[in-house]
Amino acid sequence: MSKKGFIFDLDGVIVDTAKYHFLAWRKLANSLDIDFSETQNEQLKGVSRVRSLEKILSWGDITISEDKFMELMAKKNDDYLTHINTMDENEILADVPKVLEHLKEQKQPIALGSASKNARTILKKVGLYKSFDTIVDGNDVSKAKPDPEVFLIAAKQLNTNPEDCIVFEDSVAGIQAANTANMISIGIGEESILGEADYVFKDFTQISSEFITELITN
Ligand code: BG6
Ligand code: MG
Repeated sequence: MSKKGFIFDLDGVIVDTAKYHFLAWRKLANSLDIDFSETQNEQLKGVSRVRSLEKILSWGDITISEDKFMELMAKKNDDYLTHINTMDENEILADVPKVLEHLKEQKQPIALGSASKNARTILKKVGLYKSFDTIVDGNDVSKAKPDPEVFLIAAKQLNTNPEDCIVFEDSVAGIQAANTANMISIGIGEESILGEADYVFKDFTQISSEFITELITN
């Protein structure tokens, strides 16, 4: 059986941490008198912490010093981590372990490709740290999604050509990154949002083992 490279985003694909990012950003935005909706939150999915704060400040038309910027980023992350600290394996999204186990049985290389600097902490909290052959996260990249850097590093570390890689992503920026890297992109979420992906599934319960086998053999 041929070997591919399977790359998983973390937030919104393996665990539903998007809701915690939302709560922490909304708290911060509201403290600055900036409204923050779920639609705006959608635009922050897959986007780095720095870029997220820049966007929120621009929505509020607010300019602040660099020191204040750093202070707000730390504040948001501290708040986010209070949610992360409550996490355990029950927060792994449905059928994710099943897909990971299936790939392992088929001896397929598996990577994590996330923009988050908290990725390793989260994987340890939910007990999936050992499930990946390699982990590439926000600490390893200089360019954020939609730049393909994170996925290209993951492919290299898996010893797989980019065109033999398959990326699971819940964000528009991440799907664009996978497409730019010449990888097969699989959107996890709404077709109306992730239309640029090669395939879109609502969640992993909708992905059959036949489909995974097809990805491996084609
Ligand atoms: C991405 C999330 O995975 O990671 C974004 O979708 C988040 O919402 C980004 O801003 C950076 O995460 P962190 O944990 O380093 O702040
Ligand atoms: Mg994501």
